[in-house]
Amino acid sequence: MISPPEANSVDTVLQKISTPMTRAAIFLVVTINPREADAIAAKSLCADLSALVRSVGFRDPDAGLTCVMGFGSAAWDRLFGPERPAELHPFREIVADTRHAVATAGDLLFHIRADRMDMCFELETLILDRLGASIAVAEEVQGFQYFDNRDLLGFVDGTENPADREATDAILVGGEDAVFAGGSYVITQKYLHDLKGWNTLPTEVQEKIIGRTKLANVELDDATKPTYAHNALTVIVENGEEQKILRENRPFGTPGQGEFGTYFIGYCRTPRTIEQMLENMFIGRPPGNYDRLLDFSTAVTGTLFFVPTATFLDNVTVDAPAAAATPADPSAQLVSPVADGSLGIGSLKGNPA
Ligand code: HEM
Repeated sequence: MISPPEANSVDTVLQKISTPMTRAAIFLVVTINPREADAIAAKSLCADLSALVRSVGFRDPDAGLTCVMGFGSAAWDRLFGPERPAELHPFREIVADTRHAVATAGDLLFHIRADRMDMCFELETLILDRLGASIAVAEEVQGFQYFDNRDLLGFVDGTENPADREATDAILVGGEDAVFAGGSYVITQKYLHDLKGWNTLPTEVQEKIIGRTKLANVELDDATKPTYAHNALTVIVENGEEQKILRENRPFGTPGQGEFGTYFIGYCRTPRTIEQMLENMFIGRPPGNYDRLLDFSTAVTGTLFFVPTATFLDNVTVDAPAAAATPADPSAQLVSPVADGSLGIGSLKGNPA
């Protein structure tokens, strides 16, 4: 069992969740295979992740490479035991008429961001090399910046994100779950768009669906904005205070295959806020007054993870079990430090210092 860092320790380092939006991102979701050695391989990556990010990121610091690692509910129990973040649970699916927020598999999330796709790609490759045959890839999406941070529907996406102190308050667990303070919850959904259908709509109709003007990105006034507008249904007010989340959505696609999408990723100090937004979008507020964005967008994945602090990750240790020590078990290599004491990665492999 790992001891989480002291909740209010000034030494606690957080994972880099709130960063300036980057030009490129990779969303990688994996499941951990069933053997004990597979869980150990996943655990052994935790403390080394920051070194992998440094290995790639240091080669061009201006590119701002970061990687956030999150854990699904079942994976948390399997890797870290019964002491768990209070609100960690599997993604809750929603079915309403033809609209469906599906729940899909996911044990680990890697949210990799940089201004250079090659750096995201390199880091993803190193992570997957480390995890080897211990995992299966459930989702792998390469997202990109589209013009002035627009989604493929043509609207600027991310404008109303909280910043600075407001962002910290919105995304970081605090005293309500002191052992896991400084962590965050993250929900992801991969949406596919019917772009042909969307593009048959007049711009004014699209603007009413989003709740902002398309070109100038200005919020519609209350008299013009319908109650079904996306930015009406996703505003949650509790006790007079708006409950914010941090979104880092990215477009993706393969035009040759007619695939155009938005990868939604939202961070919050409680999953309840994002779940409420999803209910408003899919079921409607009031029921039936749903988000028309969903007439042109289908969610094909849905996952929920907890993002612990970087200090927590750095402190994850691995007790080598009997299985991993058996030479006949090929997975044993995954947990044994390499003989030269290096991390055994890329160009660092075996090179004397
Ligand atoms: C098809 C997927 C989605 C697309 C294309 C999309 C696009 C947009 C756009 C263009 C805006 C307006 C600009 C902005 O403030 O960012 C927006 C706002 C917002 N979206 Fe989404 N979104 C999607 C899914 C979601 C989901 C699943 C959630 C939450 C569960 C969500 C939550 C929000 C919130 C909280 C705002 C800000 C509302 C405000 O304060 O004005 N979005 N989205």
